[in-house]
Amino acid sequence: MLNIRVEKTTAPKAKPAPGQKLGFGHIFTDHMFIMDYTEGQGWHDARIVPYQKIELDPSAMVFHYGQTMFEGLKAYRGANGEAYLFRPDMNAKRANNSNDRLCIPRIPEEDFVQAIKEVVAIDKDWIPTEPGTSLYIRPFIIATDEFLGVAPSKTYLFIVILSPSGAYYESGLAPVGIWIEDEYVRAVRGGIGFAKTGGNYAASLIAQVKAHDGGYSQVLWLDGVERKYIEEVGAMNIMFKIDGKIVTPMLNGSILPGITRNSVLHLCRHWGMDVEERKVSVDELIEAQKSGKLEEVFGTGTAAVISPVGKLRYMDEARPARSPTSSDGGCAQTENIVNFINPIDPDLTSGSILYTGGGKHDDGGRGQRPDRREHSNAAPL
Ligand SMILES: Cc1ncc(COP(=O)(O)O)c(C=O)c1O
Repeated sequence: MLNIRVEKTTAPKAKPAPGQKLGFGHIFTDHMFIMDYTEGQGWHDARIVPYQKIELDPSAMVFHYGQTMFEGLKAYRGANGEAYLFRPDMNAKRANNSNDRLCIPRIPEEDFVQAIKEVVAIDKDWIPTEPGTSLYIRPFIIATDEFLGVAPSKTYLFIVILSPSGAYYESGLAPVGIWIEDEYVRAVRGGIGFAKTGGNYAASLIAQVKAHDGGYSQVLWLDGVERKYIEEVGAMNIMFKIDGKIVTPMLNGSILPGITRNSVLHLCRHWGMDVEERKVSVDELIEAQKSGKLEEVFGTGTAAVISPVGKLRYMDEARPARSPTSSDGGCAQTENIVNFINPIDPDLTSGSILYTGGGKHDDGGRGQRPDRREHSNAAPL
């Protein structure tokens, strides 16, 4: 358990006005959590301080070799103003998987969650309440040794900042267009694709720019070797409803094991649906689309939560991402999931942010009964 020193701001910032357009990741709250790591001493000096700039030497290793990791999760407001987190224990576990891959010292899971809970509790009044809004939480670690040699740093900073945010996509829940990238790749097996670290995102920018220029919201990556199998979207995992089954690329080491992905798979299994985690080739997808078996496509991720996909572009050809013959317009599954996972649920009667998750592994969960009220996350902060 961390002993967190708290220094409250003496100059609170103006909070966004009710109804103000928040965008994503532009506004920051009054406080931040920060903790140092020094080799031999471990993580120490945990503190919550007024949100402020940090000073680093230009030789700090993070600037040169990218030894850094980050996480992303959200806090929501309950009916009586309490703050609720969505499965922060999963972020703590994933943070340590990233840390291990990047030679960054682990943070005990309970300390990671405690740091988040305490800083969110202090800035609880910053959690927006309008539908579609939330407090986005960004924990991250940077390597701070002042040294230009390529080696793991001996000192680090762990910081948690908070950002009241609206919808990730400007289009909100309107279906997004996805660009299937056939030139650049994001990650390869054995690399760092499964870790949440800056390098993966830096590698993705060039295709992201191409996609935006072409009028698409995000890139859908293919595998880094054959450019044949579907991996994931820029900031989301991808799911397809093909011939009545939910199909999603299996976790293979080069895609991020999304917490929303885990939750949605668990939910679909609980609903008795056929769920397949396996290799999905782009050829299979195009074939399914042509034959009318591709019923729906949606992305899953913390930022946008569930994002319906309306259009896919591959090899210069744009195709609708849903069946033309589908009687429900091709969005029933997506809407079901959106409704169930909908975090804005003031009376906690239908919101599933509190359901018991699929456990530690992404392949399990069949038959476990999601219970919205019994999960440990159900306790307000
Ligand atoms: C590359 C990538 N894939 C998938 C996801 C979805 O993961 P999660 O559901 O944990 O947010 C994210 C992040 O949010 C991501 O950055």
